[in-house]
Amino acid sequence: MRNFLNLKDIPSRDLKKILADAKKRKSLRKKLDNLEVDKGAPLRGKLLIQMFEKSSLRTRLSFYLAIKQLGGSTLTLRPDELHLSKDGESIQDTAKILSNFGSAFMLRTDNDKKLEEFKKYLSIPIINGLSPSSHPTQILSDIFTVEEIKKKPISSLNITWIGDFNNVLNSLIAASIKFSFKLNIGCPTKYKPSKKMIKYIENNKNKILIFDDAKKAVKGADVIFSDKVISMNDKVNKLKKLNQFKKFKINKKLMSLAKKDCIFLHCLPRGKEVDDNVFLSKQSKVWQQALNRVHVQKSILLYCLGKLR
Ligand code: CP
Ligand code: NVA
Repeated sequence: MRNFLNLKDIPSRDLKKILADAKKRKSLRKKLDNLEVDKGAPLRGKLLIQMFEKSSLRTRLSFYLAIKQLGGSTLTLRPDELHLSKDGESIQDTAKILSNFGSAFMLRTDNDKKLEEFKKYLSIPIINGLSPSSHPTQILSDIFTVEEIKKKPISSLNITWIGDFNNVLNSLIAASIKFSFKLNIGCPTKYKPSKKMIKYIENNKNKILIFDDAKKAVKGADVIFSDKVISMNDKVNKLKKLNQFKKFKINKKLMSLAKKDCIFLHCLPRGKEVDDNVFLSKQSKVWQQALNRVHVQKSILLYCLGKLR
């Protein structure tokens, strides 16, 4: 049994194995409908319990299809219906019940400590479905999408992030170290990384460069990533922050400064950080990106449950 909490704690070879499995499984499903089960139903009899303390569309749907396609089932708990959220039950007791009833637990939370606390008491794997500090299932899946489209290992590509220093970027940084790719970050100086993150980057001697000029950050990019300027539960002066990011908007002009065949990716949901004529253009691969979550999360589930081929 293995957990999937943060990319930085998972060996590169395991991450690569997950992606290789996802590629094989995706290619075998070309003619199958969404709810048809993969040959051999490797997770038959398994129950994935999901809980979302914050909104979700894609993560919810993709984990639903992922476990179904592996022959298992899923149940989504509403935190407001649990004793846990009303201080009526401890994480320890909740975790014991989850472990007795389920096979794996996927948690989207607003508190990183909660993931650690659940991990301590669960005897089934726990998967981080987004926390304030990371979004590992998203980024592993995005690497899959990049390699699928570019038909090259991500280590040979220039990746750029334009946007806030947030949970998704933290996972992208961890991925750039695990998969050895060059990463340019374009972000206003005020929002640069924490000291802890800078230390992590320096200790890993990776090629990560930070720019306070979006135009410089996208130069030579094969892929441009972005995300909402204001994340869920981001307790900031929203108008002020949006204003500070005005020069970091992804528009046609900015895209034209990257490589000619540069693609645009965005985990969604989007705000005003990207123009429609980029988001809805041929360069944008956001719908393929969202669908690939199913394939990669299937292999993450198999990894966690010790069934990865
Ligand atoms: N990208 C992503 O995680 O989307 P949801 O918040 O809709 O799950
Ligand atoms: N950074 C965003 C990602 C949403 C999937 C957030 O945390 O709201």
